[in-house]
Amino acid sequence: MSDRIYNFSAGPSMLPLSVLEAAASEMTNFAGSGMSVMEMSHRSKVYLSIFEEVKESLKKALSVPDTHEILFMQGGATFQFSAVPLNLMGEDGSADYAITGNFASVAMNEAKKYGAVNIAASSEDKNHTYIPAQSEIKTSNGASYFYYCANNTIYGTEWKYIPSVSAPLVCDMSSSILSKPVDVPKFGVIFAGVQKNMAPAGMAVVIIDKALAGQELKYTPRLMSYKVAIEKDSMDNTPPCYTIYMLGLVLKWLETQGGVAGMEKLKTAKAKLLYDYLDESALFSACVPGADARSDMNVTFRAATEELDKAFVKDAAAHGFENLAGHRSVGGMRASIYNAMPEAGVAALVKFMNDFELKNK
Ligand SMILES: Cc1ncc(COP(=O)(O)O)c(C=O)c1O
Repeated sequence: MSDRIYNFSAGPSMLPLSVLEAAASEMTNFAGSGMSVMEMSHRSKVYLSIFEEVKESLKKALSVPDTHEILFMQGGATFQFSAVPLNLMGEDGSADYAITGNFASVAMNEAKKYGAVNIAASSEDKNHTYIPAQSEIKTSNGASYFYYCANNTIYGTEWKYIPSVSAPLVCDMSSSILSKPVDVPKFGVIFAGVQKNMAPAGMAVVIIDKALAGQELKYTPRLMSYKVAIEKDSMDNTPPCYTIYMLGLVLKWLETQGGVAGMEKLKTAKAKLLYDYLDESALFSACVPGADARSDMNVTFRAATEELDKAFVKDAAAHGFENLAGHRSVGGMRASIYNAMPEAGVAALVKFMNDFELKNK
């Protein structure tokens, strides 16, 4: 469709056009039911078949073992910042946190309300432009879990390794889930707000090792309890039905693209295009120096001056490259190139950046 722009938003983000078209085509009458998915009971046969299929597709896409349960929970990723300690910290418990950006920091502050927190690693000394090495991680004795954020959406860094620790691993994968295969059995809890690589906003996917459920603090709200969510198959109350359905369409699309292995290949190629250009450019530079920490999902960069940053973002928008301004807390630019961004979009952006550079020599 020629009126679509290249949308580099960090979230909510682009969805594949074919997904939007499929949703549009069954918007008013889903599969001959005479109703929109938005209008049907979540307990109806027709909706339950959608729900089961989505769970099955996600299980398959991420090779989720039977030891783990997939949950759909409202409140986005931020809700999980509270749900994690409320479910896993335990009475008089403690937890280890790796602080590699704003979202991990917010999550840690939430956890402090419910127990003791140890900062096991941090990249704050260099404004979160790197990922601590395994040897720099200092865990504490008896921690109920180790928490980290796999991809730091604001700073543009990504953990390229899974930390090796003895406590159960809890990981916020909001901005990288479904972009590559994940070794799910290694994790106690994986959660992700869906509005980047999965679906429209309003929900988090949680993948939990069932053995960890049932240790919630006594005042944990019922809707935050992983145990209740498992027992009720994410339907203790009305789930975000339409968002779950949209996730199903995205997962069908993903399968046609070679699944998460296909996405990994694509994201590597897209990120390489941008980083290679940034490393050569005399005007622009990547904010994250080390290739071992650069995010393949959120590429952060700057021009030579703040004025040029602003001029670039404005000029880019005028040419159909939207939402390239960096997060308000860090400035500069950020190109979020999630799964739905085609390689052609990144190639066009690189060409535009090169033209801008030539004009601003
Ligand atoms: C890594 C990460 N975690 C958490 C969040 C917060 O997500 P939500 O708005 O769904 O609560 C975001 C949002 O951009 C994010 O990028």
